[in-house]
Amino acid sequence: MRDQSGPSINATETDLLVVHDQAAEGQIAHQIQTHHAAMVTELDRLTAALRDATPSEQHEAHRNLAAWFETVLVPHADEEEATTYHAAAELVEGRLLIAAMVREHTLIKRLVTLFDESEPAAAAAYGRAIFETFHSHQGKENDVILPLLVNAPQVSLVEVMGQAHGHQVEAHAHH
Ligand SMILES: [Fe+2]
Ligand SMILES: [Fe+2]
Repeated sequence: MRDQSGPSINATETDLLVVHDQAAEGQIAHQIQTHHAAMVTELDRLTAALRDATPSEQHEAHRNLAAWFETVLVPHADEEEATTYHAAAELVEGRLLIAAMVREHTLIKRLVTLFDESEPAAAAAYGRAIFETFHSHQGKENDVILPLLVNAPQVSLVEVMGQAHGHQVEAHAHH
């Protein structure tokens, strides 16, 4: 888009375009970070509920956490791999980072499988391990991947997230 023929854009207009894009980019990044924070809070709550459950509460606490993994956590990872990870992997600075982050998704999914296969006490421990792992994982996305994308002039985070089909699209649908 920057290589259109025809009258060239002067430096001042280019600067304004970049500033305008940066604001929108920052807004999308902030929405993703806010969503991550909500996920951390919810995962903390659900895994603590299972850990602290009395025997009669265990079944429901386990079921609630299993449902959250299936409907929120795993789809979030898959959506990321199709959107932000996909875009960051195309940057020279992002390629190895994203290769490692995809392996963390594999690790998180492996822990979810172990949770699913475990008896209550072990499942509760796996739940807290998934909380700690995800807490660290999303921090890297917030602090490393998103700034990389926001600061890459060749990437439009607005466009990247426009390809997503989840809640994150709804979050900026009012623009
Ligand atoms: Fe992730
Ligand atoms: Fe994430």
